[in-house]
Amino acid sequence: EARFRAACTHLDDPVPTAWQTQIRSAVTDGFANTSDTDPALPANQAWAEAIRAGLPCPDLGADTLDAATTDDAATVARVVAAGRAAGAEWASTPVEERVAALHRLGTELEAARSDLVRVAADEVGKLIDQADVEVSEACDFAHYYATLAAEQVVGATHVPPALVLVTSPWNFPIAIPLGGVAAALAAGSAVILKPAPPARRIAALLIEACRRAGIPADAAQLLFIEDGPLGEQLITDDRVDQVVLTGAAETAELFRSWRPDLHLLAETSGKNAIVVTPSADLDLAAADLVYSAFGHAGQKCSAASLGILVGDVAKSRRFLDQVLDAARSLTVAWPDEPLAEMGPLTEEPGEKLLRGLTELEPGQSWLLKPERLDDRLWRPGVRDGVRPGSEFHQTEYFGPVLGLMAARDLDEAIAWQNGTRYGLTAGLHSLDATEVQRWINRIQAGNAYVNRTITGAIVRRQPFGGWKRSAVGPGTKAGGPNYLTGFGRWEPAAPVA
Ligand code: SER
Repeated sequence: EARFRAACTHLDDPVPTAWQTQIRSAVTDGFANTSDTDPALPANQAWAEAIRAGLPCPDLGADTLDAATTDDAATVARVVAAGRAAGAEWASTPVEERVAALHRLGTELEAARSDLVRVAADEVGKLIDQADVEVSEACDFAHYYATLAAEQVVGATHVPPALVLVTSPWNFPIAIPLGGVAAALAAGSAVILKPAPPARRIAALLIEACRRAGIPADAAQLLFIEDGPLGEQLITDDRVDQVVLTGAAETAELFRSWRPDLHLLAETSGKNAIVVTPSADLDLAAADLVYSAFGHAGQKCSAASLGILVGDVAKSRRFLDQVLDAARSLTVAWPDEPLAEMGPLTEEPGEKLLRGLTELEPGQSWLLKPERLDDRLWRPGVRDGVRPGSEFHQTEYFGPVLGLMAARDLDEAIAWQNGTRYGLTAGLHSLDATEVQRWINRIQAGNAYVNRTITGAIVRRQPFGGWKRSAVGPGTKAGGPNYLTGFGRWEPAAPVA
């Protein structure tokens, strides 16, 4: 706790909610550094049990979702028109009122924590500890963007986009949609939230929280349509000024093909690796690699899907055994199982993930073969012998399969880590300051982490966003100080006479 608080004091800033969640766990359990709240720890058992007792929960969010679901082109057009009109009004609302509404939204999300966790578990299979920390991130987004608006909009000439469309993914069904919605509202835009099909009820809860916070209904609308022609209609409607997408790189390309001049702010796919050098704390490296690879069953754009082991690390039986023991001992189960450490896939694996879970390329072998427990529940897998340029080196599988590569030296490891089309997250485990500096100077990733996990960016502390094929747009990062500059036209404040 002292360490968390010291870090926050040093930054002279309120403690982010995500850290408060960790502190809650640390204080009550005596654990100094739980990376997430862990429902297996005693202090969180009561909380987790209460959540599990409320599962399943098919009614939560259902009415709001029904009202927002359509397969009718005219209805979609009406939602856009209403959003556009609301945008003009929201932009002319005094910024202090918008800021206050966003802080209220953060408070409402905190109050709705147990419902949000429950629906994330029910709808997409997210484990309770993972959903819990995601609610914290959502609260942090609301408060942080409110703070940025108060600092940046006041005194500047800023013309926001009238209407922003947020198309959100199912893997972070709370924090990512809420982050997009809160940023747009903070900038003074109206927003339409169009969630991914597997995560629609949870999106309805987020919009309900906006309502309770006093945000006008048409300024933050939910629209649920199946992907297809209505999606194209929405993207190509030029009353939609801007789209915030978190999803596959192919989806960003599809949007662009529909509307070449689309103002798109996208965080897309990743193929992320952690490099481990012989100087590393190998115990920590093994734990961080396994958590980064298999947290939420590997369904994070930030997840580690490659471990690049430098020199003797690749030959060290001790390190490999630690990784394999940790992966093998994960309790794989549904969110209603108290001891679950890795949950289900949100959907049955598609063709690509199935290949990653079942097929080896020449020269590869299974150190731990993925095991199918049922359609959506798989035990994790670890393969060895991944070569640069191979399919496994280049492909984002989005599931619980980790590939290991053996590099001669750090330079070769960095070349392989940079040698994909993507550049989202990257990790290095090394206790050698020269190696760390060399790596930091050369790594091509939006989020580069040293001696820790590579998932779970904290709002404001670790602004999140990609490079290369992992991002589209001005390069501003979610949860970072420049994010709102991606919304609209900004002129600096007039110089003080
Ligand atoms: N922000 C998430 C993470 O850091 C990914 O979207 O894991």
